[in-house]
Amino acid sequence: MKSVNTCWLRYHIIAKNASPDQSVAIVTGSSSGIGFETSLTLARNGFYTYATVRKLYDGSIPITDIAKKEDLSLQTIQLDVNNEQSVIDGVNRISEEKGRIDVVVNNAGYALMGALEETSMDEIKAQFETNFFGALRVMQAVIPTMRKQRRGKIVNVTSVAGRIALPLNSVYHGTKFALEGLSESIQYELESFGITYRTWRRCFKLH
Ligand SMILES: NC(=O)c1ccc[n+]([C@@H]2O[C@H](COP(=O)([O-])OP(=O)(O)OC[C@H]3O[C@@H](n4cnc5c(N)ncnc54)[C@H](OP(=O)(O)O)[C@@H]3O)[C@@H](O)[C@H]2O)c1
Repeated sequence: MKSVNTCWLRYHIIAKNASPDQSVAIVTGSSSGIGFETSLTLARNGFYTYATVRKLYDGSIPITDIAKKEDLSLQTIQLDVNNEQSVIDGVNRISEEKGRIDVVVNNAGYALMGALEETSMDEIKAQFETNFFGALRVMQAVIPTMRKQRRGKIVNVTSVAGRIALPLNSVYHGTKFALEGLSESIQYELESFGITYRTWRRCFKLH
C-alpha cells in the first residue's frame, strides 16, 4: 500500500493557516496519489477542500466515499488543467460558491520517460501542456481572487526533478525546471498582494 508524505503540507500550509474562518483549498489531480492524499489531509485539518479531477465520474468516487464516511468538508468537481475553459469554469464556480480561495495546490502532472530521440513532439507538447501550462492556467485563474482578498497561498508541486536532472527523463525535467523558474519569479510580483508562493518538492510516495 502506497502512502504520501504529507509532513511538508502539515508544516507549511496547515500549521501556518491563520484564517479565522474556514479556509478554502483547491487541489488539482485529486483522483490518485499526492493529490488524493493532499485533498484528504487538508479537509481533515479544517479546510473546505475542492478536490478537482479531470474525469468526474471515473476519478471522484473513492475520495467522495471517504469524505462522506468521515463527514469531511470536501467537494469533488471537474477540472482538466489542459483545458482553459474547464479551469475558468471550475475556479469561477468555487469563487461564486465560497467567495474566497485561500490555498491552491497545483499537483496534476505525470512523468514522461524515455530517450529524447524516440519521443514524439506530440508527447513532448502533451507533457508541457499538463505539467507546466496546466499549473500556469490555474495560477492565472486564481490570482485575481487572491489579489482582491489580499491573501492566498499557491503551492506548485514540482519535484527534485526540477533541480537535478537524471538520464532518460529529459522532457519531464524540462517541465519541472520550467515550473521552478516561473515560480521563483512570480513570488516577487505576488508578495505585494499578500499572496505567498511555495514549491513542494519532497512529496515522494512512501511504500
Ligand atoms: N510520485 C512521486 O514520488 C513524485 C515526486 C515528486 C513530484 N511528483 C509530482 O507530484 C504530482 C502528482 O504525482 P503522483 O505521483 O501523485 O501521480 P499520480 O498518482 O499519477 O496522480 C497524478 C494526478 O494528476 C492527474 N492529472 C493528469 N493530467 C491531468 C489533467 N490534464 N487535468 C487534471 N488532472 C490531471 C491525474 O488524473 P487522472 O486520474 O485523470 O489521470 C492524477 O489525479 C505530479 O506533478 C508529479 O510530477 C511526484
